[in-house]
Amino acid sequence: MNSLAIELNEILKDSAAYGFLSPIGKRMYFPKGIVAQSDEAKEKAKRFNATVGLATSKGEPFYLSDIYSSFKDGIFRPSQIFSYAPGGGNKELRALWKDMMIRKNPHLSGKKTSTPIVTGGLTHAISLIADLFVAPGSEVVCPDLFWDNYDLIFTDLADAKLKLFPFYDGNGGFNVEGMKKALEETEGDYARIILNFPNNPTGYTPSREEALRIVDAVKAVADTGKKIMVISDDAYFGLFFENDTEKESLFSYFADAHENIFAIKGDAATKEEMVWGFRVGFLTYASKGFTDAHIDALTKKTLGAIRCTVSNCDMPGQSLILNAMRNGKSYEADKAALFDEMSKRYKAVHVAVSKHDGDRFLTPYPFNSGYFMAFSTNGRDAEDLRRYLLDKYQIGAINIMGRTLRLAYCSVELEGLTELVDTIYKAAEELWS
Ligand SMILES: Cc1ncc(COP(=O)(O)O)c(C=O)c1O
Repeated sequence: MNSLAIELNEILKDSAAYGFLSPIGKRMYFPKGIVAQSDEAKEKAKRFNATVGLATSKGEPFYLSDIYSSFKDGIFRPSQIFSYAPGGGNKELRALWKDMMIRKNPHLSGKKTSTPIVTGGLTHAISLIADLFVAPGSEVVCPDLFWDNYDLIFTDLADAKLKLFPFYDGNGGFNVEGMKKALEETEGDYARIILNFPNNPTGYTPSREEALRIVDAVKAVADTGKKIMVISDDAYFGLFFENDTEKESLFSYFADAHENIFAIKGDAATKEEMVWGFRVGFLTYASKGFTDAHIDALTKKTLGAIRCTVSNCDMPGQSLILNAMRNGKSYEADKAALFDEMSKRYKAVHVAVSKHDGDRFLTPYPFNSGYFMAFSTNGRDAEDLRRYLLDKYQIGAINIMGRTLRLAYCSVELEGLTELVDTIYKAAEELWS
């Protein structure tokens, strides 16, 4: 093993994160190679800097003027678009993202966390977590309605197992007891869990009271001596449409909940800043007992994992997002307009669905947030319904694991939603009665 990796492992040994390191995680380190040496040269090599493989003249990169001319004059220097981004991401963007995270999550205020590391979108952030902290053969606890990419990431990439528990309890709330039992039943002294709210595919976020019960339940398991890694997947953060819904990431509570809890937040500009194709996400670490040295070691391991996979994350995306967040004239107004439209669509879907209360074939899962709602097909094949909708009505929806039909109402105009919902019920009736 590389001596730098051994050094980082020594630093992490007395932290909540250490026992979660996978074989890759243990081997990972940030090399003192080209990136580190060119960073050092940026400070000192005032005469000639011959370190980076990036063609420059007079301090700016060469570029295609056909690309540069697509940007408005005077906003970005060529280096802000065409150069490599700094390792870990644009420093100002990372600092601003952290400030914003604390503003949106007041319970994070005063708590020690790492500075968010820029990833190539949230999928990349979760995949990095799997590489670093999910050893082959380990279990990842997850509610049984989940984003299907978790399967590919944890089961197929990491060679781990998803340990599922029923998402809802008997009252249509989040199944806190089921979650606790799954954590308790996880084999060994280490348990991993991924929680995604607002949820894809259900569109559910726990109430404030449920959120506190989730945190208490995880703490109770941590009290028994089990170490728990809690991943908060906050892809749809902020789209909360009801008063009693928890408006903060669970990461705010887990960040300093217990010495045995290792909290990780994955979030992204993808949906929060409406830049789906930019591929800019963030990874943030915290634990009650973390020192600055622990956080630094985890950051170096993560930078190493980025370096040996994508090497560097999207520079134009980072510059554009930073500029909008810092200087945008319509930044708040555009985001408010999206929220307003999504909340109208959410209400319209609720009204449309409630007309079909007690339907034999489709039962909507409780939903209160995000982009989606989903129907249980009550044991019938959701793939049959998906195909029928597509062939007979030219309606696209998603079959989730054969027993759930997911509707992304975020992508349908308000005027069409009642017809969409009515047609789905009608199609189910035609198909199954
Ligand atoms: C629950 C969940 N997590 C993560 C992601 C990944 O987001 P990104 O597009 O930033 O990779 C998605 C995207 O659909 C998602 O639904």
